[in-house]
Amino acid sequence: MNSKVACLYFLSLILFTTQLFAQTYARNGMVVSANKLSSETGVDILKKGGNAVDAAVATAFSLAVTLPSAGNIGGGGFIVFMTAEGKVTTIDFREKAPLAATNDMYLDDKGRLIDDSNHNSIKAIGVPGTVAGLYKAHRQYGKLPWATLVQPAIDQAKNGFPFNWSLLTAAERFTASGNKYPFMDAYFRNGTGDVLQPDELWKQPQLGTTLELIRDKGQDGFYKGEVAKKIAKWMKANGGIITKKDLRKYKAIERKPITGSYKDYKIYSMPPPSSGGVALIEMMNLMELANHQEIEFNSTTYVHLVAEVMRRAFADRAEHLGDPDFNLHMPLEKLTSKAFAKKRFEAIDMTRASVSDSTKFGQLYDGDSTTHLSVMDKEGNAVSLTYTLEYGYGSKMGSPELGFIFNNEMGDFNPQPGITKTNGQIGTAPNLVAPEKRMLSSMTPTIVSKNGKPYLVIGSPGGRTIINTVFQTVFNVLEYDMRIDKAIEALKIHHQWLPDRIIYEQHLLSPDTRKALEAMGHTLTGYGNLGALMGITYDPEKNVFTGAADSSRPDGGAVGY
Ligand code: GLY
Repeated sequence: MNSKVACLYFLSLILFTTQLFAQTYARNGMVVSANKLSSETGVDILKKGGNAVDAAVATAFSLAVTLPSAGNIGGGGFIVFMTAEGKVTTIDFREKAPLAATNDMYLDDKGRLIDDSNHNSIKAIGVPGTVAGLYKAHRQYGKLPWATLVQPAIDQAKNGFPFNWSLLTAAERFTASGNKYPFMDAYFRNGTGDVLQPDELWKQPQLGTTLELIRDKGQDGFYKGEVAKKIAKWMKANGGIITKKDLRKYKAIERKPITGSYKDYKIYSMPPPSSGGVALIEMMNLMELANHQEIEFNSTTYVHLVAEVMRRAFADRAEHLGDPDFNLHMPLEKLTSKAFAKKRFEAIDMTRASVSDSTKFGQLYDGDSTTHLSVMDKEGNAVSLTYTLEYGYGSKMGSPELGFIFNNEMGDFNPQPGITKTNGQIGTAPNLVAPEKRMLSSMTPTIVSKNGKPYLVIGSPGGRTIINTVFQTVFNVLEYDMRIDKAIEALKIHHQWLPDRIIYEQHLLSPDTRKALEAMGHTLTGYGNLGALMGITYDPEKNVFTGAADSSRPDGGAVGY
């Protein structure tokens, strides 16, 4: 550290919380999310004596107001929670297929996929899980009253918050002529019918009223009574299939985390129905077998190795993973074992790209409207929460009476039984549609511990790229000891088995490296940005929380106190 940087670092510690370059330091707790106002909401809860779970719940409700592209009460997600003593659990609040769903619901009578109906129709909406998940997390592990956690979001919805430039981009798109989504057109207009403008207060009174019912009645405020009745009525009127019974039956589930290790660190992440944790551990195990003293970061050899590691994990993901309540014999232990990694590693040719065989397995891109938040409180408890609507603004549909947007998560199921294509569409059994089944996810909320205590809290949006951006960020911190903002900002690659190509963030690969990789048999595609990581590291010796929000989310923020 040069003297100027050292001086700023210590000054920031004296002030307890100060933005220094891309990092924020604090002594008492930290919240990092894709909207700074929502991070501040979480920190207010910490200041009131709430723990990390309380702050995460309040931040998530707030994001449903401030970041409606992904923050939600109409979607679903996952929480990984580690106590200061190192005990870990997870909460699965993934959406479910409705009772009336079938594995051919998106096919015509010749077995062909009807347009994009699995992503883009009212039948793409899964039974939402967010309210049940946040409620369960609070009931089991929160400290403050439920109403205290929901109230800030109600205030932001009813009193308004300043409309921002990112929202304006969406507002212009959804209010342009030819827009197919009437709900979204009305959503972005003010009381006089004009399109909202930056800094204008954006009020969402209907959403505020829905949140009031959730505040007063807890989970039942969403899944029973007035809201459930209105959802079912709206579904019926618009050709949807979610009923009051679907809502009444929805339950969030506490599950054991997927665990692994890298050197002296322990890694905890989300088990199925997310594929994220299994793939992350498998890739970290494979990377542990390479000699990193001899492989320079981002060199041709490095990119080749990382792409081959990703290719293998994504092939296994496609073959084996789905909802654990429907797939009772998934080989999770094997996929996350060191012995399996050794076999997989030995089959990597360091001079040649393998070929992804489309007659076997692979995956398409998902939408990337997911968002992640990381929280640590002053006791050292940590929450890693990722939740989603699937595409940006999900289904882009909702009941005007209720004021929130529904997900289009049914698109995460394999749509055509038995059909796997080189473009990445897969048809394997573990992730076919069935009534009440949870669709396979890539969300990878993760916590790494050092000496048994939370050390790194991390996650990202980005569809299937989530797994790989979280993997590379975790690897950057654990192997290269990168500080959290550097690890997040470091340019990344993505390979997902099928399509068989490396996607790289622009400017990551020099022309020479690109040529060398192509000569090895890789296909390369440049891409603007991968992921939007939100992370915290904790140094127990200095008692310093360090937070960083990915610069790809200009409204995001790490806030500490
Ligand atoms: N909708 C993105 C995911 O669950 O992976």
